[in-house]
Amino acid sequence: MTQVLRSPSEFQAWRRKQSGTVGFVPTMGALHTGHEELIKQARKNNDLVVLSIFVNPTQFNDPKDLEKYPQTWDQDLAMAERNNVDAIFFPRYPDMYPDNYRYKVSENEYSNLLDGAHRPGHFDGVLSVVMKLFNVVRPTKAYFGEKDFQQLTLIQGMVESFFMDLEIVPVPTVREEDGLAKSSRNLRLTPEERKKAPAIFKAITKSKSAEEAAASLSAQGFIVDYVTDVGNRRFVAAKLGEVRLIDNVQI
Ligand code: PAF
Repeated sequence: MTQVLRSPSEFQAWRRKQSGTVGFVPTMGALHTGHEELIKQARKNNDLVVLSIFVNPTQFNDPKDLEKYPQTWDQDLAMAERNNVDAIFFPRYPDMYPDNYRYKVSENEYSNLLDGAHRPGHFDGVLSVVMKLFNVVRPTKAYFGEKDFQQLTLIQGMVESFFMDLEIVPVPTVREEDGLAKSSRNLRLTPEERKKAPAIFKAITKSKSAEEAAASLSAQGFIVDYVTDVGNRRFVAAKLGEVRLIDNVQI
């Protein structure tokens, strides 16, 4: 049975009684098969699996986006139980931020590009909460999807910079049959928008340049934040109606 532990102190009391390796999957809930893949990998390679569900307010620069973030607790718990997750850490804001966010973790180069340029403070919020989660959960390995490639890179950098004793395991993006990257935000698309959304993956894989991909998406009615090539990857963020979607591929 999956244990549900709500406060850091409750979780830490449970954690002290465990032995063996701990695979950790941090999430904001609204779990989909992309998360399930992270959980399966954690299950295969560790003695214990811990999942966290916390919709972290400090990483939302847009309060409307936070308000509308999907919450599907019953289905999330069912998925955790189906996959033999040992414990879910499910904290509340005051427990995670006893300092009310006076202290934070910042990176000040790469976090200003791509999504960071369009979502001020977003990566400070992500790095700060991930540091807190790692300190509470004390995982052996933590699993992150490559869909959020900039997030993954920044977390790897934080772990190296602060000599944190765990391994970050990147997991390839899981896609729908039509190419759309799995994301909790897909739940907010209208049926019409859902039909249109795979154009994002098509544009970044089929276009000869980032500019061509951006023009193609704009012509189809997307509001494009960016399509940019960095190193050997092409990154995109574009809005469809109210929903902002991101993706990236190796080029
Ligand atoms: O990728 C996410 O779901 C979140 O950014 C994370 C890593 C759980 C931090 O809140």
